[in-house]
Amino acid sequence: MSKAASKLVIAIDGPAGAGKSTIASRLAKSFGYVNLESGAMYRALGLKAIEIGVSVGDGPALLALAKQSTIELEPTPEGNRVLLNHRDVSARIRERDVTDAASRVSTHPEVREWMVSRQREMGANGGVIMEGRDIGTVVFPNAEVKIFLDADPQIRERRRVTQANAQDNPARAEKLKQDLRERDRRDSTRAAAPLRAAEDAVHIDSSKMTIEEVIARAEAIVAEKLRQHGL
Ligand code: DC
Repeated sequence: MSKAASKLVIAIDGPAGAGKSTIASRLAKSFGYVNLESGAMYRALGLKAIEIGVSVGDGPALLALAKQSTIELEPTPEGNRVLLNHRDVSARIRERDVTDAASRVSTHPEVREWMVSRQREMGANGGVIMEGRDIGTVVFPNAEVKIFLDADPQIRERRRVTQANAQDNPARAEKLKQDLRERDRRDSTRAAAPLRAAEDAVHIDSSKMTIEEVIARAEAIVAEKLRQHGL
């Protein structure tokens, strides 16, 4: 891949459990791009709020907390290593309480503004695949590639249960499904930058596709864009 090829910005948006991280990390490998998970930044702030005891309903206090924090994403072949004030919180931020806090923290316009400006700095030189909810609509409205990755709610719920290895635990499986439904509802109905597809995004519905099929489709979209840009 030529050096110039690393200049595009690729935005991948979609609801929880649609497979964004898997697709983004595979695309990053295929094209030599850096994969940045914007959700991990909201998760890191959610964790900090829990630890310090700041209410996830208090936007101004959360903004103040964000300003005192360093949140860094370090791309690795296994996904993003997430550092909160230089402490590795990559595993902790995937836990249930932080997942819930991240979704609540992300409803505040002042928090979003702060996050968006950090995310723009990270992607300023191109060569990035950024995944999230508002990347193609707000963070990088001029991204050369925009993919909106979706799947039926029941399918996403089932995938989440399988990922968590909870198939044989009906109570835990039901809890996971409820969490996903609630988070979806909050992420797509909040007033500030709710989850929605950019008008110029290419939609991929992964409900009836295998991961390899989705990757092949996404790779074809990126390859075509690179070709159009003479890369
Ligand atoms: O992608 P994720 O599950 O790690 O995201 C965690 C939460 O952060 C999600 O519930 C909504 C929020 N989020 C957001 O509002 N905007 C983004 N660009 C990414 C995530």
